[in-house]
Amino acid sequence: KDPPHPPRYPFWVKSIFHSHEIPSVRRGYEVYRQVCATCHSMKQLHFRHLSNFVLPEKRMKEIAASYDVVDGPNDEGEMFTRPGILVDAFPSPYPNEEAARYANGGANPPDLSVYTTAKHEGVDYIFALLLGYRDPPAGIEVRDGLYYNVYFPGGLIGMPNPLHADGLVDYEDGTPCTKSQMAKDVVNFLCWASEPAHDERKLMGLKAWKADSVWRRQIIRCLLIAACIAI
Ligand code: HEM
Repeated sequence: KDPPHPPRYPFWVKSIFHSHEIPSVRRGYEVYRQVCATCHSMKQLHFRHLSNFVLPEKRMKEIAASYDVVDGPNDEGEMFTRPGILVDAFPSPYPNEEAARYANGGANPPDLSVYTTAKHEGVDYIFALLLGYRDPPAGIEVRDGLYYNVYFPGGLIGMPNPLHADGLVDYEDGTPCTKSQMAKDVVNFLCWASEPAHDERKLMGLKAWKADSVWRRQIIRCLLIAACIAI
């Protein structure tokens, strides 16, 4: 049986007039770092990408330095470990796919660098998935290492409920750390990571709208075509 469609949630970023919700993106990075990063890589992200956009440079330097990064070879031809710096990529939890599958009962946690754009209904799907864990209905047998999730195709997912309790993360801004708050924030972070230039793109569109009536006509035409395709 097909899984239900995720509901359409009012994510701020969906509106053409809205930017990323940066305080939420910032909290979402904490959720990623403290919860999801145990299993999921984000190979396309480097610490410098967040510097001054999501967190101040000084804080990003501290966070980067809290990871050990393998570098080299040095003058003696040996690899060595050093504290991370801004230009380093986010560290991956597993060295390769085999190790990831071995640790997760055969399932492979996908890289989340561009995940919200990779799947149809990206943001809504991930939010619903994160809050979609239930007791299995009568008659459905769940073998060890699988979990029942309403929104996962087939119903049985290899990911244990990552947001299983409130308060998993310390939010520096004092926002109550409920499960749904963490889900919203991490989705906003993944969305930002998929498209960090999003705000600039929308701003350019609005500027063009204001500046020039020829552009305005073009934009209206594009919006009408997009609306026709969507219908
Ligand atoms: C799969 C997100 C934490 C292990 C997935 C998928 C997403 C996701 C979007 C893909 C689902 C699909 O294919 O439709 C997240 C987020 C997390 C998180 C946002 C943090 C809040 C974790 C943790 C673990 C984990 C902590 C390990 C304990 C897995 C595995 C899969 C998976 C093994 C593959 C499942 C399968 O194919 O059956 N996750 N995840 N995830 N995740 Fe996570």
